[in-house]
Amino acid sequence: MASNAAIDASGLVKRYGETVALSGVSFDVPRGTVCSLLGPNGAGKSTAVRILTTLTEADEGTATVAGLDVATRAAEVRSRIGLASQDATVDGLLTGRENLIMIGELHHIGRRVATERAAELLEQFSLVDAGDRLIKTYSGGMRRRLDLAATLVAHPEVLFLDEPTTGLDPRARNELWDVLDILVDEGATILLTTQYLEEAERLADDIVVIDHGRVIARGDSRSLKRQVGGDQVFATVVDPATLGRVSELVGRTAGAEPEIDEGARQVRAATAVGPRAIAELATALAEAGIEVEDIGLRQPTLDDVFMTLTGHHAEEVEEGADE
Ligand SMILES: Nc1ncnc2c1ncn2[C@@H]1O[C@H](COP(=O)(O)OP(=O)(O)OP(=O)(O)O)[C@@H](O)[C@H]1O
Ligand SMILES: [Mg+2]
Repeated sequence: MASNAAIDASGLVKRYGETVALSGVSFDVPRGTVCSLLGPNGAGKSTAVRILTTLTEADEGTATVAGLDVATRAAEVRSRIGLASQDATVDGLLTGRENLIMIGELHHIGRRVATERAAELLEQFSLVDAGDRLIKTYSGGMRRRLDLAATLVAHPEVLFLDEPTTGLDPRARNELWDVLDILVDEGATILLTTQYLEEAERLADDIVVIDHGRVIARGDSRSLKRQVGGDQVFATVVDPATLGRVSELVGRTAGAEPEIDEGARQVRAATAVGPRAIAELATALAEAGIEVEDIGLRQPTLDDVFMTLTGHHAEEVEEGADE
């Protein structure tokens, strides 16, 4: 029992008929920290969130949120949490302001307080101008910001955000991250699910990687990247005939076995020396008179983490048993 944990999940199992959505998931989230559940489609992220937010019950295992058992004290848990679920829950036929006030009233904070709180949140989420427009006229990014504002109306102790930025364009995603940064700085406790390592890295203190309903790795982004071998230096050549020669030079500067990707006319290799590898490789290539299209340093992606930990790509949807 981690009494300081805002979320403590232990051995959660959930089956839907033949499908095992979760097969023994355990993790905890200390108060005042941000934890990201990172995994591809169908990994079990939403199922875990649904159990922790009392929307469904686990078949096996236990969980507490804000120190309360989600199975036996569901109503109390609900009064202490905020949930932005993956499917938009706000009513499109209300204005943003009306929606926030309605949620306040559902939480019994009174119309006057709810009205004040709505104005405060519209301000904080840059929705003042849109506040009196119908939600169905909002862009995807505005809708997600309103979703997030809605979860905060009653000052929850723990926030659950299920894929808060999936489907947003890069600019809207960045705007949402900026808003989340503020919550994080204020000391919010957040469980956030995502398919993007970049998002987990930007926002989370701790990342729990899940795949096929199992926790396959846990740590901060640096330790996860270390597990997949760190940065890779790469060179893309103009003439495919030079790939062999470039491979030797990449291997020598990186100090690791290079990999040739003929389709991409690219050679890459793990490197521990960071940006210095680019400088050395550029010099070596220039001295050898080899023309390159691109050269650089690439950080591991979610896909690299998945390839290393599971042997399959993150976006590969696998049907049935994989062993
Ligand atoms: N209500 C349900 N009935 C039947 N199967 C379900 C149900 N909910 C989830 N599943 C199955 O459980 C598995 C995990 O689903 P879940 O929604 O938790 O994944 P996820 O990680 O949230 O995926 P995504 O990134 O696509 O949202 C999937 O195989 C899914 O098809
Ligand atoms: Mg989901």
